[in-house]
Amino acid sequence: MVAGHSQEPQAQAGQPRGYELLASTFKRRTGIDLAAYKERQMIRRLTSYLKRVDAPDFAALALRIARDDEALAHLKDYITINVSEFFRNPDRYAVLESDILPELIRKFGALRVWSAGCSIGAEPYSLAILLEELDPQGAHRVLGTDVDTGALEEARAGVFAADKLREVSPERLERHFTQTGVGLWQVSQRVRDRVRFRVHDLLRDPYPVGQHLILCRNVVIYFVDEAKEEVFHKLAGALVEGGYLMVGSTESIFRPERYGLQSAGSFIYRKVGGGAAGVGKFTSLPKGDAESADAGGRGSFGAFRAKV
Ligand SMILES: C[S@@+](CC[C@H](N)C(=O)[O-])C[C@H]1O[C@@H](n2cnc3c(N)ncnc32)[C@H](O)[C@@H]1O
Repeated sequence: MVAGHSQEPQAQAGQPRGYELLASTFKRRTGIDLAAYKERQMIRRLTSYLKRVDAPDFAALALRIARDDEALAHLKDYITINVSEFFRNPDRYAVLESDILPELIRKFGALRVWSAGCSIGAEPYSLAILLEELDPQGAHRVLGTDVDTGALEEARAGVFAADKLREVSPERLERHFTQTGVGLWQVSQRVRDRVRFRVHDLLRDPYPVGQHLILCRNVVIYFVDEAKEEVFHKLAGALVEGGYLMVGSTESIFRPERYGLQSAGSFIYRKVGGGAAGVGKFTSLPKGDAESADAGGRGSFGAFRAKV
């Protein structure tokens, strides 16, 4: 249909035909702004997606997701890339276990820990396991957030296949999991009780404040620099002074002092002051379908602004 369609947004240089239309339809329907993600990478992924769902071009896919909720959910799942596992990059968790968490517990008592872009929950549960082992009586809380409601549903169920548990030691498996089926393991109730999950878009929702530790790993890798910087500002603003931000192993922060952060080792930063939160280009709420579509998931954000 869309050839010569008067409503089709103007294509930008280098963009394949129909990409703008797809991006604007996707934003209207989900609130997710593809402009915040690296364009070449996104176009490459979406081009292979066209083949996978047998759509002739981007405009046809735009039309499909405008009308079909299932097609929309499928595309959203694909775009948000949920790869994760327990204790992913175990050396990072070793640093958290031996240095960072003990220091924070000594300094602050009960901790608020946030796994931002938590996917299926393996990361917040791994953090909760460490807290449970280090200080079982402590009233520590872990918040897991993601833009992908499907991933959060899996996270809440807390049931995982063996391939997500490769880095879990036999002792930990025995202590914190129950086998619920062939090759399926559920996280213990004690660990699950420490973790809450919320829908949250790092590019447009208000951030929870007063966090002692934030893990935001393998999420901003997909963002353009401007969006990345905005997210780092806001993550720094969400930390208490003396709190820590850990990023993924390809996401080192360039000149962390810009955000009131100081390097404290590989991919980990201490909040030393400043870190203005500021609303930027990617953080204003979109109008239209997105608000009503996601209203259920975002209804608690008034409370979410407060310390969690
Ligand atoms: C590769 S997973 C990372 C999971 C986990 N942090 C880890 O390192 O194992 C990336 C996650 O980022 C989420 N994500 C992508 N864009 C996001 C956004 N704007 N706000 C919040 N989460 C986002 C995706 O839905 C996905 O679950």
